[in-house]
Amino acid sequence: MLVIVENDYDIMCQVAAKMIVDRLRKKPNLVLGLATGSTPLGLYKELIRYHREEGLDFSKVTTFNLDEYIGLPPTHNQSYAYFMQDHLFRHINISPEKIHIPQGMFGNISITAFETDPVVTDFCRWYEQEIATAGGIDIQILGIGGNGHIAFNEPGSSLGSRTRVKTLTKKTRIDNARFFSSMEEVPKYAITMGIGTIMEAREIILLANGPGKSWAVKTSIEGPVTAMCPASMLQMHRKSNVILDQAAASELSAEFIAYG
Ligand code: PGA
Repeated sequence: MLVIVENDYDIMCQVAAKMIVDRLRKKPNLVLGLATGSTPLGLYKELIRYHREEGLDFSKVTTFNLDEYIGLPPTHNQSYAYFMQDHLFRHINISPEKIHIPQGMFGNISITAFETDPVVTDFCRWYEQEIATAGGIDIQILGIGGNGHIAFNEPGSSLGSRTRVKTLTKKTRIDNARFFSSMEEVPKYAITMGIGTIMEAREIILLANGPGKSWAVKTSIEGPVTAMCPASMLQMHRKSNVILDQAAASELSAEFIAYG
């Protein structure tokens, strides 16, 4: 695990963007795993800047997003499909048919049957198959929840899990309530790549900034590998990079590399 501590969020995002750009220049048909949330926003701004100012070409890139809320259509401004269009895809020359985001709408399935309904489980299997058909994910971008989750793999998630529906914890729903007008509107379920799916990416870049992430960062990097902190599984990955600002790194006891 390469842990990089930067002075601030902007530099973190520049370092992460540079890593992706270097890989993309070497492999124009890169398969990118993408994340949503506030953390990768600066990274996406940087990638857009590379596209506009340096002509970085995304036309052969394939993308797979980590997760999507269940029950929000892609037109809902808090769906992750909408987020990705708004913050990245409409600003670069990516081919729409190369974009993959888990489906969040499954018709009239009863909320209690989401985890077992064959339409949902077939979709989850198909998503995994699409990743395999694309040749696997080259680089997976990750944020981290204040509770140590990666994607919507909440604490207690199987470390070998695959794409499936997860019930969101109260903490995650409270953390995400800032994007909705009321707590009741925050979805209770999400469809998410599993920890096993994420671990198969050839390289991982996890970004974390701000004091709200310091516990999760310390527990992931210095704690034991445990399902109670899903991001701790990255200790088992052969090529994971963790890029932090000072606040997110503030509880680490070991010394880590700081790039200027
Ligand atoms: P955030 O969410 O980037 O909005 O902090 C990260 C996460 O919950 O994985």
